Amino acid sequence: MPETIVLAYSGGLDTSVATKWLQEEKGYDVVCLMVDLGRLPDVPSARERGLSAGAKDVAVVDARDDFLRYFVFPALQAGAVYEGSYPLATALGRPLIAKLLVDKAREVGATAVAHGCTGKGNDQVRLDVGVNTLAPDLTIVGTTREHSISRDEALEYAAKHSISVRQTVASPYSTDENLWGRSVEAGVLENPWNQPPEDVYEWTKPLDQTPAKPTVVEIRFERGVPVALDGEALSPVELVTRLSNLGGEHGIGRIDMVENRLVGIKSREIYESPAAVILLEAHRVLEELTLSKQQVRFKNIVAQEYADLIYNGQWFTAHHRDLSQYVASTQRHVTGDVKMRLWHGTVMTVGRRADRSLYSEALATYNKEGDLFDQSHAQGFIKLHGLQAQVQAQRQKIGRAHV
Ligand code: ARG
Repeated sequence: MPETIVLAYSGGLDTSVATKWLQEEKGYDVVCLMVDLGRLPDVPSARERGLSAGAKDVAVVDARDDFLRYFVFPALQAGAVYEGSYPLATALGRPLIAKLLVDKAREVGATAVAHGCTGKGNDQVRLDVGVNTLAPDLTIVGTTREHSISRDEALEYAAKHSISVRQTVASPYSTDENLWGRSVEAGVLENPWNQPPEDVYEWTKPLDQTPAKPTVVEIRFERGVPVALDGEALSPVELVTRLSNLGGEHGIGRIDMVENRLVGIKSREIYESPAAVILLEAHRVLEELTLSKQQVRFKNIVAQEYADLIYNGQWFTAHHRDLSQYVASTQRHVTGDVKMRLWHGTVMTVGRRADRSLYSEALATYNKEGDLFDQSHAQGFIKLHGLQAQVQAQRQKIGRAHV
């Protein structure tokens, strides 16, 4: 009896060819698994293609809600952004895909799992490490890593094995997308001096086509999780989808960066992440109101660490667990509303309020009436605050010749 392997299947040409290749070259029975993280291609045609390539089954899992609740929102609460720009959409999807591959393998009694990630990227690391952590007994086959072929060779292989290739599109780019964002690389983008052609973008309008008038959207957070738009309570999927569309209309969320991959390569990538860009900013603004100065400073350090561990495929680790406990604790009072103005590619905060805000108008006001701040305390405070500077300047003549 052949052993069974579960393949992370996208429905495209490469994983359809891989479906056949795993049977022919490796002798496996293949179960294809399509994980829906928000932007699945045409499922019926992908199913048909998988079956025509000899898959025993092509299963589809709707993981959109879990993806947002257990992967994206914790990263949002942490403020996790890789190297200052990348909201980690692709990276956040991988540990969940690893988990679902393992679940499916258990369900069908498979001894192995497979994916089509390139051997030069981060995604192979995230999937392999995820699977190895959750199920060390499973064998992992990287089909592209072991057997890399060109598109023409793939088409030839498909024709030879009667794999239906109708509706597989030839894209000049390598793309990945889910509810949190879209990643685009390769082709002309490989030269970082090249301006991205407009066909790179699918979710966001170019600035000369964005609406003349701004949209102001009110986002409600509860404990750091977005729960409503303009007063309407929404499910995570609904909320993120709406914000993504709205932001895209206004040309928000285009990111063009050169990043440091885990495997040592610098790569140029274009991202479209309208919902992420809006929500990360709104969440940060709400923390300005609700966290103390030390909390904000320290949490920024944690955010970097958190982003790195997501990027580097270390989701299923004790380190992550520890950091996430800290982050969750910081979110206890991050409840309130933020008003964001979306316009011509920019997102600007125009108002905020929080149920347990630390902002006190009575302390901040320049009006005499109702002012609770006792200005007579300022002088003594400043004297002590500046004491070291003053002594040092006198004894060591700082400010005159530096001798
Ligand atoms: N560079 C991003 C990451 O490592 C995205 C990788 C997938 N990108 C792609 N265009 N297929 O998370």
